[in-house]
Amino acid sequence: MYQPYILKYDYSALEPSISRKTMEAHYHNHYLKYLRNLNTILEKNHFQFQYPLKDLFQNIDVFPIEDRNEILYNAGGVINHELYFDSMNRLQTSNIPEPLYSALVSKFGSIENFKRQFINLSSTLPGSGYTFLTVKKDHELYILNLANQDSPYSLGMEPILGIDVWEHAYYLDYGNNRKGYIENFMNPIDFEKVNQKYQKILKESE
Ligand SMILES: [Fe+2]
Repeated sequence: MYQPYILKYDYSALEPSISRKTMEAHYHNHYLKYLRNLNTILEKNHFQFQYPLKDLFQNIDVFPIEDRNEILYNAGGVINHELYFDSMNRLQTSNIPEPLYSALVSKFGSIENFKRQFINLSSTLPGSGYTFLTVKKDHELYILNLANQDSPYSLGMEPILGIDVWEHAYYLDYGNNRKGYIENFMNPIDFEKVNQKYQKILKESE
């Protein structure tokens, strides 16, 4: 079975950007439900859990066609939430480390522009979904909106930062002010962690 991601901070650590109540409900009622559903349908298919979850997206065609949507939906629900939770930490005051800093500046012009583009794209995502910062095979960075629980791994892109913009991620704290939530998400971003993921991708493709 795929095992649950353990939060690296307590539920109230991201306040005031995200409340304890939201984090607790998000982790238990939403994330863990996707994980249970995913393990159940994979076990029904006698899956051996022989590779990391992200590899499932490139191997989806080994499953019966009638199960693929449910597997992709729940696998996305797991991996997207894990990335989202891992994208944040207690208030970060440090600068964005290298090589991520230079890559962001070279792609978006400045860190301010990167944040502005991310916030603008995310605020205009129709319905439910996520906004990701992804790395393509050529190492270029892209900001990308995907609907529902779709995953960048299905597109051959590696996400290194992600925000959940389903209503359950912010409604208790922000009502329908999605943009306010996305702007405040910029505060607890764990750029050390995002940079580690970026470096790992660069290294793996050397
Ligand atoms: Fe969520």
